Amino acid sequence: MFETDAPRTDPAPDPDIDTCLAEMHPADMPETDIVEEGGEGDLVVDAVSKRFRTGRTDVHALDNVSLHVRPGEFVCLVGPSGCGKSTLLDIIAGLTRPDQGEVRADELVVAGPHRHRLVMFQEAALFPWLNTLGNVMFGLKLVRGLTRQQRVEIARSHLRLVGLEKFARANLHELSGGMRQRVALARALAPDPRVLLMDEPFSALDAMTREQLYLDLQRIREQRRKTIVLVTHNVREAVCLADRVILMSSPPGRIRDEFTISLPQPRDINTAEVASYASRITTALRNYADSDLAP
Ligand SMILES: Nc1ncnc2c1ncn2[C@@H]1O[C@H](COP(=O)(O)OP(=O)(O)O)[C@@H](O)[C@H]1O
Ligand SMILES: [Mg+2]
Repeated sequence: MFETDAPRTDPAPDPDIDTCLAEMHPADMPETDIVEEGGEGDLVVDAVSKRFRTGRTDVHALDNVSLHVRPGEFVCLVGPSGCGKSTLLDIIAGLTRPDQGEVRADELVVAGPHRHRLVMFQEAALFPWLNTLGNVMFGLKLVRGLTRQQRVEIARSHLRLVGLEKFARANLHELSGGMRQRVALARALAPDPRVLLMDEPFSALDAMTREQLYLDLQRIREQRRKTIVLVTHNVREAVCLADRVILMSSPPGRIRDEFTISLPQPRDINTAEVASYASRITTALRNYADSDLAP
C-alpha cells in the first residue's frame, strides 16, 4: 500500500528518535527482570485495602477488595467518581502499594510495574519530542534483545493495527485526541504485554470518536487476545466492551456486585440490549449510593 511517510527500505530516517530513546534513563522503565516465561495474564486481587492519609484527611479508598480476572478476560470497573477505581488499577499495575492484601499476576506477587502489565491513561501520556513511530518504538525498549530494525517493524505493524500507518512520521501536535489515544494503544500493545490496564481511556474524546474506538478496540482484542481491565464511569461503555462488569461504590471503596454480559461480540453501543444491561447496572449503582447515604 502507498505510504506517505518514509519508504520501508529506509526505516531509520530520524536520528532524533534514536537519540531520544537512548537518553531515556533505564530507571524510567518498568521492571523487566521478573520471570518472563509462562503465564497468560491471570490476575488475582486478594483482600486489598488502601487508605490515603494526608494532613487532616484520611480517605479509605479501598476496603477488602478481591477480584479474579481470568486470562483473556475483559473486565470493566464502574462506579461513581472517587470510589477507588483508579487506585485499584494502579495497585494492579504495581504503581501503588496496598496497605493490606496483595495482587498476584500469573501467581507472582506484584511488587512494581512490569512490562506484562501496561497502563493506558485518559490523557495519552506520550512524549511530545518523539513522533508517532518514535512513541510506539519507545514502548519496545521494554523488550530485550530486539534490534532497531525489529523495533521499527513491530512499531509499524502496531500503527497499522490502530489505523495510523500513514502517520508514522507525524508529530503529536498534528494528531487529534482520538489519534493520540490510538498511538497510546499501539505503544501499550507493541511490547505484547499479557495484561492491558486502561484508566478512562476514552472519556476525554467526543462521542463519535469514542464509538469508533469501541469498535476498533473490540476488533483489536479479537486479534490480540489480552487480559484487559478498563476503568470507566460510563456504564454503557462498560457493557459495550466487557465480558464482565464490576460494580464499585464508596466510601470506603468496595466491590458491590458484578454482571456478566452475555451478548455476542463485537457489540454496538447503540443497541437496545446494551441499553438494557446499562440500565440495570445504573439502577444498582444508584441503590448503593442511596443506601450508603441512608442514616
Ligand atoms: N494519592 C492520593 N492521595 C490522597 N487521596 C487520594 C490519592 N489518590 C486517591 N485518593 C482518594 O482516594 C479516593 C479514591 O480515588 P480514585 O481511586 O482516584 O477514585 P476513582 O478513580 O474511582 O474516581 C478518592 O477519595 C481520592 O480523593
Ligand atoms: Mg479515576
